[in-house]
Amino acid sequence: MTADSFRCLIVFEKKADVFDRQITTKTLSDLPDGDVLVKVHYSSLNYKDALSATGNKGVTRKYPHTPGIDASGEIVESKDRRFKTGENVLVTGYDLGMNTSGGFGQYIRVPANWIVALPENLSLKESMIFGTAGFTAALCIQKLELVGVTPEKGDILVTGASGGVGSISVAILAHMGFSVTAITGKPDANIFLKNLGAKKIISRKEFLDLSSKPLLPQRWAGVIDTVGANMLSTALRSTHRHGAVACCGNVAGAQLDITIYPFILRGISLFGADSATSAMETRKILWKKLSNEWKFAALDQISRQIGFNELNQEIDNVLSGGQIGRCVLNLDK
Ligand SMILES: NC(=O)c1ccc[n+]([C@@H]2O[C@H](COP(=O)([O-])OP(=O)(O)OC[C@H]3O[C@@H](n4cnc5c(N)ncnc54)[C@H](OP(=O)(O)O)[C@@H]3O)[C@@H](O)[C@H]2O)c1
Repeated sequence: MTADSFRCLIVFEKKADVFDRQITTKTLSDLPDGDVLVKVHYSSLNYKDALSATGNKGVTRKYPHTPGIDASGEIVESKDRRFKTGENVLVTGYDLGMNTSGGFGQYIRVPANWIVALPENLSLKESMIFGTAGFTAALCIQKLELVGVTPEKGDILVTGASGGVGSISVAILAHMGFSVTAITGKPDANIFLKNLGAKKIISRKEFLDLSSKPLLPQRWAGVIDTVGANMLSTALRSTHRHGAVACCGNVAGAQLDITIYPFILRGISLFGADSATSAMETRKILWKKLSNEWKFAALDQISRQIGFNELNQEIDNVLSGGQIGRCVLNLDK
């Protein structure tokens, strides 16, 4: 290693449409231009990272590439007066880890406008336990609050509940006093979800409604859906009159087969969430909430910490739907 070289994961195209990845080194001069150079201490593994790490060109157009849509660390160089050397910061989304070298490397160089100062009540590690997953959960909860979904209105549903966005949604909603029903495909995730505060756990198979009924019995005041396809359709058809659904993911597919009746006969609202392009103002508001009133007690228990050597197998685990909670990458390990 030379003085300006650092460790990172690189994904490369071995031959047309065949991708491989390795832990290797890059130099600071390999990083794109940008206002702020950050020494990354922690990153986290999200579904999108697993897609980027396996050559998904909808996420990353050009390879070789270093994924990692999340990073937290210390500023080591800044050309922007708003940020000083030594300051702790976090970056999630924008183009980080998509076509900009990301948090699976010990340094990132990014525009100052992508940076959020680390909130007072969060450590660098905690900020990555939340990461994009936590920020997206917060975004979805904010949307539900907009239309008055409160604990008094009834049960709330979270799908893909043991995954990153799902588990943090369960934990924050339970912490806020909601009665949370969690849908999971993993029979062994029950204790994990109960410990996060889920009141009821339903298996994915039992929940999915494959009939073409336009409306189902009303069960949910609100829903956070991380799965898409029939899961989203079933959730929409079983949401209470004037309830709301916030959707953010498509692990089960991108098609939505549904009639217009939940919307025009029950007045249901369907919100989308796009964390990567969220406005800085929204980021500041939600990171403040995550570091204060939405910071739940089990935050540390929801994550496991890995080093570079475990990253490859964890990426495969995400792609096979096996993720439980959050996986935090310690770049110093
Ligand atoms: N829009 C945004 O801003 C945004 C931000 C973050 C993530 N996302 C999206 O949200 C989704 C979840 O992301 P994540 O990072 O939380 O992923 P993750 O940690 O890998 O969790 C995904 C979870 O979904 C469930 N699942 C997996 N395959 C499934 C299938 N075929 N059918 C039904 N459920 C399945 C599993 O939970 P169970 O076994 O408990 O069911 C799995 O643990 C992804 O599609 C991701 O791209 C979007």
